[in-house]
Amino acid sequence: MKVYVPGDSAARSVGADLVAKEFAAEGATVVRNGSRGMLWLEPFVETETARGRVGFGPVTPDAVAGILAAGEEHHLCQGLVEELPWLRNQTRLCFARAGVIDPLSTGDYERHGGVRGLRAALAKQPQEVVADITESGLRGRGGAGFPAGIKWQTVADAPGELKFVCCNADEGDSGTFADRMLLEGDPFALIEGMTIAAYAVGAAEGYVYVRSEYPDAVRVLRQAIERARATGWLGADILGSGVTFDLFVRVGAGAYICGEETSMLESLEAKRGMVRSKPPIPAISGLFGKPTVVNNVLTLASVPAILADGPAAYQGLGVARSRGTQVFQLAGNIARGGIFETAFGITLGELVNDYGGGTRTGRPIRAVQVGGPLGAYLPTSQFTLPMDYEAFAAAGAMVGHGGIVVFDDTVDMAAMARFAMEFCAEESCGKCTPCRVGSVRGVEVIDRIVAGQDQDGNLALLNDLCELMTDGSLCAMGGLTPNPVRSALLHFPEDFTEAKR
Ligand code: NAI
Ligand code: SF4
Repeated sequence: MKVYVPGDSAARSVGADLVAKEFAAEGATVVRNGSRGMLWLEPFVETETARGRVGFGPVTPDAVAGILAAGEEHHLCQGLVEELPWLRNQTRLCFARAGVIDPLSTGDYERHGGVRGLRAALAKQPQEVVADITESGLRGRGGAGFPAGIKWQTVADAPGELKFVCCNADEGDSGTFADRMLLEGDPFALIEGMTIAAYAVGAAEGYVYVRSEYPDAVRVLRQAIERARATGWLGADILGSGVTFDLFVRVGAGAYICGEETSMLESLEAKRGMVRSKPPIPAISGLFGKPTVVNNVLTLASVPAILADGPAAYQGLGVARSRGTQVFQLAGNIARGGIFETAFGITLGELVNDYGGGTRTGRPIRAVQVGGPLGAYLPTSQFTLPMDYEAFAAAGAMVGHGGIVVFDDTVDMAAMARFAMEFCAEESCGKCTPCRVGSVRGVEVIDRIVAGQDQDGNLALLNDLCELMTDGSLCAMGGLTPNPVRSALLHFPEDFTEAKR
């Protein structure tokens, strides 16, 4: 019997390797796929049947013999995988193959629609490829949501023979893991997307900057690159087109700020990860001073589907200026955590309650933080907000990289605001004063407020400090840290003052 046991780090962290070993010992043919993203069911095992794949989870090694004997009668059986509501209700473009294929099988990749986008791109002029990306409405999935087509056009138009494509896989936001799951579950999608980007802008070399905390992703991606080279998807004369592009992996050293694009470029140049002043933007002067596309993993992994199916299909999904799909990541105190890819426009409440199932503790939700540690805290009264860059901005929040972290009613929001300042103090690159010093002072001011010292004066001081950090910081680290602080103050003021005077 053929059995799929995820080999990605989420599944491995809860014992998937032992489960795989047990299935092999029982005589099953084991394929190590990526995760489907239903993390509460990991290790989520799938068996191949005449009706399609049947899922079981969470599987422990001692359940293996029983599963093989009882099949769909086993109490861990979840039913036909493709019919599970969690998967059926998604629109998976980026994650279409994740969890389905062996991530390192070039044959599996191609059989499941891989390389169609690259072939379509190579049949066009580079400028037509840029135009397709612009028309699709794809925006940067790293968090800022800048239109990818405009960025590519800037690099394509920049003078010079030497250009680069760099993928930012320094996924540092708390509660985000989509980049890692894509790298581990379908690395060829990223390789294909980067190759298309390189062809479109005229780059011959690319780098993927992966955070050091993702050793499994680094290993899988390196193997995938070797196989892509051997298959003619990378290197000289890609698919007989005469186009050359090669790709290399670089591993970070654990600094959050290296996820900021200019710090990442410094780090790629083997320098300390310090933020560069912009302008010039990397699209004009990036890696080693050359025009460089810097895109996030999910942005680049969205590209093959756009070229394969045409920009109109992608543009047809979503709302307002937020087109296509976003890979939402449900984390924190949530009953069903994991990956949920769907078109923009789904509401925060639908994601957290309908799909996430509320809190894992069973207590009422009090707050959710959307968009990483620099994102705003939102109360449940904001659950009608559609996932849409502009709608979130209007509500003083941000969609960011699509991470949603849930907290129940035991959360202390003053402590969370303090944590934001503390995090900034810890991770600041130190280049500018509002961030380097402001964050340290921010921790002190919050401490004074919760200790009940001159609360009105210190609250006014905290507001001033937030304003200064927002306006005076050189990059998003210091500039966005006031988001969680201000939103905590706005929506949960009682946690700062109540019973503490
Ligand atoms: P930004 O708004 O300064 O720039 C966005 C992108 O557009 C950059 O790549 C920039 O070079 C490019 N760009 C701007 N103007 C351009 C032009 N005229 N032509 C071509 N390209 C242009 O935002 P930034 O500072 O790069 O990113 C901030 C965001 O990063 C935040 O909103 C936050 O959500 C996100 N973030 C993501 C994290 C993660 O782990 N994914 C961690 C921390 C922050
Ligand atoms: Fe460095 Fe912070 Fe200034 Fe960004 S805001 S440049 S991280 S000191």
